Amino acid sequence: MTKVKSESATLSLKGKSFELPVHSSSLGPDVIDIRNLYRDANVFTYDPGYTSTASCDSSITFIDGENGKLLYRGYPIEQLARASHYLEVCYLLLYGDLPNREQLEDFETRVTRHTMVHEQLLFLYRGFRRDAHPMAIACGVVGALSAFYHDSTDVNDPLQREIASIRMIAKIPTIAAMAYKYSIGQPFVYPRNDHDYASNFLQMCFSVPAEDYRVNSVMSRALDRIFMLHADHEQNASTSTVRLAGSSGANPFACVAAGIACLWGPAHGGANQACLEILKEIGTVDRIPEYIKRARDRSDPFRLMGFGHRVYKNYDPRAQVIKESADEVLDYLGTKDKPILKVAKELERIALQDDYFVEKRLYPNVDFYSGIILEALGFPTSMFTPIFALSRTVGWIAQWKEMLADPVQKIGRPRQRYTGMSTREYVRISDRP
Ligand code: ACO
Repeated sequence: MTKVKSESATLSLKGKSFELPVHSSSLGPDVIDIRNLYRDANVFTYDPGYTSTASCDSSITFIDGENGKLLYRGYPIEQLARASHYLEVCYLLLYGDLPNREQLEDFETRVTRHTMVHEQLLFLYRGFRRDAHPMAIACGVVGALSAFYHDSTDVNDPLQREIASIRMIAKIPTIAAMAYKYSIGQPFVYPRNDHDYASNFLQMCFSVPAEDYRVNSVMSRALDRIFMLHADHEQNASTSTVRLAGSSGANPFACVAAGIACLWGPAHGGANQACLEILKEIGTVDRIPEYIKRARDRSDPFRLMGFGHRVYKNYDPRAQVIKESADEVLDYLGTKDKPILKVAKELERIALQDDYFVEKRLYPNVDFYSGIILEALGFPTSMFTPIFALSRTVGWIAQWKEMLADPVQKIGRPRQRYTGMSTREYVRISDRP
C-alpha cells in the first residue's frame, strides 16, 4: 500500500463525521480508503461499473485517459511499440524491468520450450462442434489446462506460479491456432522453435502439411505490434475478472479461462470483430452519414464500434501506432485503396468533427484499426477476439501474480444496494392467486 497522506477526507452522515485516510499514487488520482466505512458508519459505497473505484494497488500499467497516455512499467506504449517486441514486453510486464541480453535470451528460451501442448488435449478439441467460435474453444481448453498440468496449480508455491505463467504465455498461441485450424477442418500444426513468437503463431495458423508457409516480416511485425498494444490495460473488465477469480485461490488456468470469457463480450474484446463488421456493413464512404446519424440517435441502441472508451476521453494512444501498422501492411499488400480502409479513415475524420462525438469525447480506440490489419493478415473475424486474448494473457498473468504477492489481498467480495422485497411469509401454491 502506498503511503498515507497527511490529509484525509471527511464524510458527514446522519450527524456524525467520519475521517477517511487518503493514499497517494505515484501517478494519477489519490485514493480515499473506505475499507472501514461499513464497520464504522454502516453504509456501503455505491459505484456500479466501478467508475470511481480503485480495486487494488498496482505498479504494472498506468493510463491517463484525459491525455491519452499509456505506460507499461513507466515506459510509454508508443516507444515500446516502435522499438521493442512482444516477448521483451512480456518480460517487462511480468518482472518490472526491461531485461538485459542474457535475461531476455533465458526468458525466450523458457517460453519457446513450453509452446507444445499435451498431446491428449487434441482429443478435447474434437469434442467441439466444427462451427464453435474459437473463443468458446479457447475458454474451454484453457480451463482444461488445470486438468493436464497438476504440477503448476498450487498458487502458494512461487515456483509453480512461475511455471504456470510461462506455460500460459507459451501455450496460448498454440491453443488459439489449434482452435482456428479445427474450425476450418485442417490438421493442427505444431509450434516451431526456430520462429519468433508472432511468426510462430502465423505459421501455426496458415501452414499446412502439404506446403511450407513463408512468414513475411511485414506481417509478423504488424502482428507482434498488435500483441504489444494489447498486452495489458490495468484493471479493465477481463483483468478484474482474472483478479476476482484468483482472489479465491483458484488456479491460474481457471483464472485465465474466466478472463477469456469476459473478454469475449462486444463491449470489450469482441469490439474488434464488431467494428470490422460495421465497417463492412457501411461499405462505401457515401453511407457514413447514415451510420453517424444512427449513432447519435438516443432511441437507437446502435453504437459505432471502435469508438469510445471507459478510460480514454482522448485519442487512444494505441490507435495512433496501430494506424501506422495498418498503413504499412496495406501498403505492402498493395491494397491501400481498399474500400474498407477508405471507409475507416473517412469515418474517423467525420466522427472527430461531429458534435455528438466531440461532446461525448468518443475517439477511435485500438480496435478501430486492429480488425483491418488482422483481416489483411488473412484472419477471419472470428479469430480477432482470440488474438486479443492471446496478447492479453501476459497482462492477466502479471496482474494475477501481483495480486497474490500483495499482503493486503483478500477474497474479492463486493456488496450491493438491495432493492428487493423485505421479509415475507411463504405462501402455499394452493393459496396463491
Ligand atoms: N457510439 C455511439 N455512442 C456512444 C458510443 C459509441 N461507440 N460509445 C459511447 N456512446 C455514448 C453513449 O450512448 C452514452 O451516451 P448518453 O450519455 O447519451 O447516455 C455516452 O456516450 C457514454 O457512454 P457509456 O456507455 O456510458 O460509456 P462507458 O464508459 O460505460 O462505455 C464503451 C465505454 C463500452 C467502450 C463504449 O464507448 C462503447 O460501447 N464503445 C463501442 C464498443 C467498443 O469499441 N469497445 C472497445 C473498447 S476498447 C477495448 O476493450 C480494447
